[in-house]
Amino acid sequence: MTRVSMKVNGKDVAGEVEGRTLLVDFLREDLRLTGTHVGCDTSQCGACVVHIDGQPVKACTIFAMEVEGADITTIEGMANEDGTLGVIQQAFQDHHGLQCGFCTPGMVMAGAALLKENPKPTEKEVRQYLEGNICRCTGYHNIVKAIMAASGQQVDPPAMAAE
Ligand code: FES
Ligand code: FES
Repeated sequence: MTRVSMKVNGKDVAGEVEGRTLLVDFLREDLRLTGTHVGCDTSQCGACVVHIDGQPVKACTIFAMEVEGADITTIEGMANEDGTLGVIQQAFQDHHGLQCGFCTPGMVMAGAALLKENPKPTEKEVRQYLEGNICRCTGYHNIVKAIMAASGQQVDPPAMAAE
């Protein structure tokens, strides 16, 4: 076992991990931050996306040992300080961007990363950015709408339907 330490959602944390312990398992099982989901474990679904030093990363693709000293944000860190929903979370609620919710943490984290690097994306850019995130329920329409709304833009329903 190896000791690892990192910052998660602004707090210093540490734990003992095996070399094979994935970051997603360390977050969920050791830190009990179960908002980060595991949908596939094979780097395909995007349910496990977290931010590592500001970059979106699928937490099932990296070992906990590899993020020693890193600054990590999970879905639990996306709410406002007073506990209310953050902008993107609120947009998902307002625009019905989820059904079962399994993909939602990854979608919110990916959407937040997109808006950080591109604050006014086009609808096409949102769809392209979300290519690594699978949703089995929504058909993506309202997810895209929520991210567009979080960027202060509207998505015209007829234009989307014609795509
Ligand atoms: S659980 Fe990581 S990509 Fe699916
Ligand atoms: S809301 Fe169910 S998988 Fe996306």
